[in-house]
Amino acid sequence: MIKRSTKSSTESVLSSPLHRRILLMNGPNLNLLGVREPEIYGHTTLQDIEERLISTAKQHNIEIISIQSNHEGELIDAIQYHGLLADSDDTVDAVIINPAAFTHTSVALRDALSATNKPFIEVHLSNIHSREPFRTHSYFSDKAKGIICGLGHLGYDMALDYFISHYYSA
Ligand code: DQA
Repeated sequence: MIKRSTKSSTESVLSSPLHRRILLMNGPNLNLLGVREPEIYGHTTLQDIEERLISTAKQHNIEIISIQSNHEGELIDAIQYHGLLADSDDTVDAVIINPAAFTHTSVALRDALSATNKPFIEVHLSNIHSREPFRTHSYFSDKAKGIICGLGHLGYDMALDYFISHYYSA
């Protein structure tokens, strides 16, 4: 089931006269952050991350649309829905994505992101280059504006800071 943080994003819709929007996407098993292998992924929950980003973004009149799903097709639908299938007023400006295990498997998710033609930053909590060899390949990195990995939950804040200072600062 797709998980959207509707409560907080509704708040920021109302405070967003400029219609600035960033899509925050998290792939499979990231709903378990905080309890899932904390020695690798840390103790911070996805809700903590979402709330922090929503709060920072709100100070810049940016709405964060946050979606986590364990299902590839749902993530693809969400990218289409907030990208090419959105009304021009509703489309997102940029994407922060941790595709999780789909990083290493999903041509379909890569194609969906490419189709939106929006800048995206790929985030991983762990350093995917210091783990099993199969994690070193990403279907996203060559298309990404940048990649942040190994810095834990702070990677998401860094990605947002980048978009704030490079896309939204006057
Ligand atoms: C991850 C790294 C992936 O290899 C893994 O499958 C994940 C999380 C990370 O954030 O470190 O689920 O994307």
